[in-house]
Amino acid sequence: MNIKILEKLDKEFPSHKSCLRNALEAGQGHIFRWWDEITSREKKHLLEQIASIDFQFVNKLFRDSLRKATNRTKGCLVPPKVITPPANDFERNVEQNARKVGEEALRERKIAVLTVAGGHGTRLGSNGPKGTLPIAPISRKSIFQLHAEKIHAIQKRYDTYIPWYIMTSETNNHATQAFFKENQFFRLDPQQISFFTQGMLPAVDLRGNLLMSSKSNIVMSPNGHGGTIIALNEKGILNDMKRRGVKEIFYHQVDNILIKIADPVFVGYHLKDGAEMSLKVVKKYHPEEKVGVVVCLNGCLQIIEYSELSREDMYAKNDDGALKYNAGSIAVHMINIDFLEKVYQKGKTLPYHAAIKKVPYINGNGVLVNPKRDNAVKFESFIFDMLKHVKKGVIMEVLRQDEFSPVKNVEGENSPVTAKQDMVNLFGRWLCNAGVSIPTDSQGNVIGLIEINPCFALDEEELKGKINKTLKFNGFLRL
Ligand code: UTP
Repeated sequence: MNIKILEKLDKEFPSHKSCLRNALEAGQGHIFRWWDEITSREKKHLLEQIASIDFQFVNKLFRDSLRKATNRTKGCLVPPKVITPPANDFERNVEQNARKVGEEALRERKIAVLTVAGGHGTRLGSNGPKGTLPIAPISRKSIFQLHAEKIHAIQKRYDTYIPWYIMTSETNNHATQAFFKENQFFRLDPQQISFFTQGMLPAVDLRGNLLMSSKSNIVMSPNGHGGTIIALNEKGILNDMKRRGVKEIFYHQVDNILIKIADPVFVGYHLKDGAEMSLKVVKKYHPEEKVGVVVCLNGCLQIIEYSELSREDMYAKNDDGALKYNAGSIAVHMINIDFLEKVYQKGKTLPYHAAIKKVPYINGNGVLVNPKRDNAVKFESFIFDMLKHVKKGVIMEVLRQDEFSPVKNVEGENSPVTAKQDMVNLFGRWLCNAGVSIPTDSQGNVIGLIEINPCFALDEEELKGKINKTLKFNGFLRL
């Protein structure tokens, strides 16, 4: 069959001969099983996909994924130095100084915001890009709109201009851009928002065979948020940043609805230390929480997946009884762009991690199967693996309830319901600290609904200056 296809293809698409051979030599010839049944348009699409795939590389990734994971915590493991929330006047003073440095950098237009939004959001199972999810507790504004309004508010506060870069993937790029257009870019300047797509890799079955989602389409997946580094360099984004005078990137994931975009304190700590990459962390809820932990391994900063920490390290305690390895990463970073460029130019690539997932595919009879069990391997690189190249990095601890509430699942923890409640609770605390009485239930959740537009008040301090203390909360408040 393969020889026949080769001959046909030579005639039909002579320029694609070599990529077909690559697929066959890598043992992935089954992707041509329906060649005779598909239309010429579909053939063209399949050939384009094939031309974009490095088949030997994918086979290697699969072979590597079969190897037993090496112990990544081997060597000298110690907790990293962490800047904790200020507890006394001296520390508050240090924080104020950092804030001033950050504010200055914002005023000088040195900071860009980078939102990674290329993931498929499989756990959430939504149709559109995650950022389009209506999430605000009263107005039902989308996640993207909330981010946009925060950027707006910062621009106003510091009389500045913040270029906003949004990483999408082939699967959601069109829908994401269309959403911004439909919503007139949420009153931001369309010129300040740039979309760019990350790379894709095929998903394979548990024996390493490429999966097809139709007779003419190979299942492709975004190559992980680590793909940002390649995309920033190869799509000309770093050059665009430089052209605009940007020196540092504030990086965050689209689905954290409490994100403090371009937090001047974080920016300031990062700059004051001349750091290459900095991280925000929260205290772990409990030893077994499934969160990556920031550690110092053999003198280098690193994020260790919860599954890679030994039980002994997981439960290790300090003298004061607190967990020793307690710095849970929330995937908020400051990254210096010269450092990013250097890492890329030196060809320092990030490793790929294999994730076993349920992926719909067509079986040998061409019938679509929605698997009930894990059936596929996806390959992703992680941005935090860059840490191993970092010589100087700042780690700043923040309060989870103020800064971290991701939307991952349809229900239960980290779902739209918890995200909305976390927003209401945050606004409730701001009001409470401003002198307004806000009722809460036994779990500390606000009873009622509150929504505060970032353009009205970006933080508690701003709210305090605007709110009337005699305000009576009747269970519903939108500011
Ligand atoms: P997650 O790992 O939570 O993935 O990504 P996800 O796509 O949102 O959800 P699942 O795992 O499929 O259910 C964390 C962040 O990284 C981005 C996501 O868009 C999200 O903001 N991301 C993830 C990318 O930009 N590209 C990727 O390849 C993977």
